[in-house]
Amino acid sequence: MARILITSAIPYINGIKHLGNLVGSQLPADLYARYMRARGHEVMFICATDEHGTPAELAAAKASKPVAEYCAEMWQVQKDLSDGFRLSFDKFGRSSSEQNRRLTQYFAGRLAENGFIEEVTESQVYSNADGRFLPDRYIEGTCPNCGYDKARGDQCENCTKQLDPTDLINPRSAISGSTDLEVRETKHLYLRQSLLRERLDKWISSKTDWPVLTTSIAKKWLHDGDGLQDRGITRDLDWGVPVMKGEEPWPGMEGKVFYVWFDAPIEYIAATKEWSDGEGLDDSAWRRWWRTDEGAENVRYVQFMGKDNVPFHTLSFPATIIGSGDPWKLVDYIKSFNYLNYDGGQFSTSQGRGVFMDQALEILPADYWRWWLLSHAPENSDSEFTWENFQASVNKDLADVLGNFVSRVTKFCRSRFGEEVPKGGAYGPGEVEVIRELTERMDAYSAHMEAIEVRKASAELRALWVIGNEYLQEAAPWSVFKEDPDRAAAIIRFSLNLIAFYGAVSAPFIPDASAAMLEAMGADGMGWPDDMEAALKGLTPGRAFTVPENLFRKISDEEREDWQSRFSGVRT
Ligand code: MF3
Ligand code: ZN
Repeated sequence: MARILITSAIPYINGIKHLGNLVGSQLPADLYARYMRARGHEVMFICATDEHGTPAELAAAKASKPVAEYCAEMWQVQKDLSDGFRLSFDKFGRSSSEQNRRLTQYFAGRLAENGFIEEVTESQVYSNADGRFLPDRYIEGTCPNCGYDKARGDQCENCTKQLDPTDLINPRSAISGSTDLEVRETKHLYLRQSLLRERLDKWISSKTDWPVLTTSIAKKWLHDGDGLQDRGITRDLDWGVPVMKGEEPWPGMEGKVFYVWFDAPIEYIAATKEWSDGEGLDDSAWRRWWRTDEGAENVRYVQFMGKDNVPFHTLSFPATIIGSGDPWKLVDYIKSFNYLNYDGGQFSTSQGRGVFMDQALEILPADYWRWWLLSHAPENSDSEFTWENFQASVNKDLADVLGNFVSRVTKFCRSRFGEEVPKGGAYGPGEVEVIRELTERMDAYSAHMEAIEVRKASAELRALWVIGNEYLQEAAPWSVFKEDPDRAAAIIRFSLNLIAFYGAVSAPFIPDASAAMLEAMGADGMGWPDDMEAALKGLTPGRAFTVPENLFRKISDEEREDWQSRFSGVRT
């Protein structure tokens, strides 16, 4: 038994995530966590909300709520949706937690002690009317590049040029509209990650098994032009982790907070402490996952994220960990994803384009979405959600292949043999051949799951379902029954066993339908089938079963068209 630590990139607190966000980190992470647990490994699966920074403050202001209250509410909304999608986190934490505040301050203190922090004096825009500095999105003005008059302090939306607040012409406060602004000097902390370039380069080069997407992005940032620059890790904001050097005040940094990207990945660790605190366990419970001097030397740590998150996880966060000089666990494997597009364009949170997690669950249960998203995960390139494709996959894979098999077998058995596993007959060469095929396919399926090849794993799982279907079609118990009821009994017994087997191996992809299959077969406790022959004899003659409700329903053309037009606009 191994110990596997799994983290998913933590979603921003402001707003409900769309399906593109979901398939880029949380959902494949859940697939892997479920699989690893099913194989008997000890798993710690961590996610959280990313609550600091200007987007959270601005979203709260827009909702006319104090930011802490807004975050608490949105955490609950996101938590309920992740439960709805059956994301099996051991902890869904909050980056605004006390645990993260302390740990972030601790890391900053260690980095300072080790010479990785530099204090830099910068010029920033200060608003007299608002009594505060105006970083990033808090300031608007005319773009010096294209003349667009609503450019933001960090970027012009019109021409996409990256800006500094001091670049804007006729700047005004995005909070009050005031133009009573001045440039003031303010001190900030910089993480001297450039000092670690060589160490990081060596470390990344040693990861020869990482996906190309991950290493190519990391290498690009390490070597291209101004890659791996020292990075400002503090901001003049109210909402965030107050800047402290460990438990000591930091002279000159009063009233400032750490930049959201500094404290967010530290939340992976802090959330594990949130978990152990919540369980009433002592600190060794979380430290054995994170400290290589306290047990984590035996942990395999796997991270999941979209490609835009890769630089922070391959460079900045490792720089924080290494620079601390403490034996914290570094990531062993980073699985990153391209983007999922939506019906000829992009999913967009700011524009409300696409299908969002709450809307998806209003239409159909989680398994339908999980299956489509995982079997179309954007692994090797961007992929696209279309309603036609979604309808076709659901109707074919889930309803025609898997659902239909389950319903034909159970209903036929009920009508001919009653609701118990039929006695009589023995498995013959046909069943032996199916067992051989399944064994082969299962090896491939497991290998792809181990390697986190999500699409390939889904294709193997589908192939396992198809084998059962074709077997049933050929064995045709309904025609054999009259002449040779014993033979029909053996076929049906084998098929009922296949249902239990599908329940066990499909659970990482479609947990609800899998639970229904296992429950109907009275095989809830069935483990991962290691020996196929034994697994397909698990349901012994005479044992009771029930006919499950239709596992999957088909999507009609009318529904598809209706959803297509309902989600063609923007969410308001
Ligand atoms: N909130 C970020 C995003 O959604 C991800 C943060 S991941 C972590 O892109 F490393 F910061 F935790
Ligand atoms: Zn511009």
